[in-house]
Amino acid sequence: MSILFNEHTRTFHLFNDEISYIMTVLPNEQMGQLYFGRRIHHKEDFSYLLENGYRPMTSYVFEGDRSFSLEHVKQEYGVYGTTDYRRPAVEVLQENGSRLSDFRYQSHTITAGKPKLPGLPATYTENSSEAETLTLLLEDPVTGITLELLYTIFEKGGILARSAKLANHGEKSVHLTTAMSLCMDLPDCDYEWLQFSGAWARERHLKIRKLEQGIQAIDSRRGHSSHEHNPFIVLKRPYTNEFQGEAIGFSLIYSGNFLAQAEVDTHNMTRVLLGISPEGFDWKLEPGEAFQTPEAVMVYSASGLNQMSQTFHKLYQKRLARGYWRDRARPILNNNWEATYFDFTEDKLVKIAAKAKECGVELFVLDDGWFGERSSDHAGLGDWIANPSRLANGITGLAQRIEDLGMKFGLWFEPEMVNKDSNLYRAHPDWILETPGRSASHGRNQFVLDFSRKEIVDCIYEMMAKILREAKVSYIKWDMNRSITECYSSALPADRQGEVFHRYILGVYDLYERLTSEFPHVLFESCASGGGRFDPGMLYYAPQGWASDDSDAIERLKIQYGTTYCYPISSIGSHVSVIPNHQVFRKTPLHTRANVAYFGTFGYELDLNHLTQEEQKEVKEQIAFMKEYRELLQFGNFYRLSSPFDGNITCWMAVNEEQTQAVVGWYRVLCGVNLPYARIRLQGLDPDFCYQDQETGKSYFGDELMNLGLITSDPLSGQVEDPNAGYGDFDSRLFVLKRV
Ligand code: DGJ
Repeated sequence: MSILFNEHTRTFHLFNDEISYIMTVLPNEQMGQLYFGRRIHHKEDFSYLLENGYRPMTSYVFEGDRSFSLEHVKQEYGVYGTTDYRRPAVEVLQENGSRLSDFRYQSHTITAGKPKLPGLPATYTENSSEAETLTLLLEDPVTGITLELLYTIFEKGGILARSAKLANHGEKSVHLTTAMSLCMDLPDCDYEWLQFSGAWARERHLKIRKLEQGIQAIDSRRGHSSHEHNPFIVLKRPYTNEFQGEAIGFSLIYSGNFLAQAEVDTHNMTRVLLGISPEGFDWKLEPGEAFQTPEAVMVYSASGLNQMSQTFHKLYQKRLARGYWRDRARPILNNNWEATYFDFTEDKLVKIAAKAKECGVELFVLDDGWFGERSSDHAGLGDWIANPSRLANGITGLAQRIEDLGMKFGLWFEPEMVNKDSNLYRAHPDWILETPGRSASHGRNQFVLDFSRKEIVDCIYEMMAKILREAKVSYIKWDMNRSITECYSSALPADRQGEVFHRYILGVYDLYERLTSEFPHVLFESCASGGGRFDPGMLYYAPQGWASDDSDAIERLKIQYGTTYCYPISSIGSHVSVIPNHQVFRKTPLHTRANVAYFGTFGYELDLNHLTQEEQKEVKEQIAFMKEYRELLQFGNFYRLSSPFDGNITCWMAVNEEQTQAVVGWYRVLCGVNLPYARIRLQGLDPDFCYQDQETGKSYFGDELMNLGLITSDPLSGQVEDPNAGYGDFDSRLFVLKRV
């Protein structure tokens, strides 16, 4: 890993064993982009990469010169209106009404490690030898605004982390109306665009289309990263598949409004922009003030999508997630939500927990409904005090009873929300986000607290911290069940209202930071009506997130498969629930529900007392299995083998670091008859190791399994002697392979 600067050519080359990133100071002193991709040799001069020349209908920067136009050069942080017509990375509205900027190179620093981004989640190093950071300092001589562009290259992996900081050193206030985290100009457009989109209960479904001239974009304007789109896109070559070809993943470490966009111009250059959505964004910078963008991470892979995903997995698992739980296998939990909804008493909860304990569950989680006057979703949010008519001994008493069973206790909160029917709202009706003179829209009967205001965050913090100080709480599920509307803060002046969405998210991060610092052993799981805020920003504070409110095993195949393109298995909250399933009313076999949930944090979302003796026995075996293999499943190398977005069969596998153990999950949505022969070629094994299938006792070399494949043909297909012997639709199998 190195960052080299050539003083004569004023060229920067950042490289490690896998990637090179090259940029140069342009003739007008702005920064130009020359190359990002697979590692190439270092040279003193890469200026030949700066293609420019005369083109009709082009505007040129220098009078008398018809060769240098920003329209036709790749840039590091493009500005609109000074010969470049593409969408800009930055726009600064000045007092005189101008929106032009001209950020010119001043100096740079190269430092070991990686600086923190104040108040924002970001990747980090534990040791400064793990990464190097280049900070480019640019300045606009007219406004006095400085721009710092940060580039961190890690020693290992095709990773480049980027962000920008704008500071007002001028004498007049300005408004930032666009400040992206990353602008990446690529020399061609021969790419397919991958996005991960959906809606409530069908999050992160993979969508692929070819890049075309014009703009393709996804965004969120809902105040959270959203169920609809995830702040993550991939550009891959048309020939790239899971295991070969070029792919670049772009991920934003942020939980609020975002934009991910690729603009292809008519000369086939591609500009990727990633950052806070400029829609409605307007940040006032007074003289002396600065604005730091969130961090964006680019991962380049020369060996397909799977390698890109594994790079993201390791980075986000080890250098984004933090704290006690980062490297620890996650407790197997039983959550009461789908078991009881709002209908519970202390004794009923303890009965559920006792059965869970008998089956081997380690953590009992009390979900929504324990506080204030909450007996439905009409009341109580904001009153984080146990309801004595439900929990006579409070959270302290219930937590102790759960601990006495030999389990840990976890608790649900929805800190950012309030019901009008609550003591908090009655005391502070002006604490919600609402626009003067207009009615405030509700979502699920609730309103959004103005987390841009410190005193409100302080108040919620005190209520939550009191419970955590008094009761034995080992886990928190932090929910968020509506999008933001009428976004306006009564605490900010008119010309700062464009800051509220971002200030809100900073308030959420602040509360997370305070709670995780004061209670470092508590495991946090993020949630937003399932997967409405499943993003890297959350992972910095909560190492796992409830991936979706859809707990149906078959729906989960797509949700979890799509999630793995960016996020590690240890972050994917996944539970076994009852049948008929509460979201799609489907009946799937118990073993399939578990076989899907194993590839995640694992738990149960039901009352195990309601299962038959036989099913309870199966659950005990499932839990014993998960306890044995969770390290491997959650922290091993994960491979996608067959996609639910392509057909009837889904297959994936996890292999431990030593390559001595692997677990393969195979899932078939619909059964067929007299089916063709079928094999799945495995990945990530040692070709020379011999592996034994733990069920059949048969052994195979790694090279056999990876080249001939694992036979998955259905031995029962077409036989009628015993129709109960097979499972029909929604079947699945798990292959456990161990080195012999
Ligand atoms: C939405 C979550 O995703 C569910 O798991 C549950 O916690 C409910 N909210 C409770 O209101």
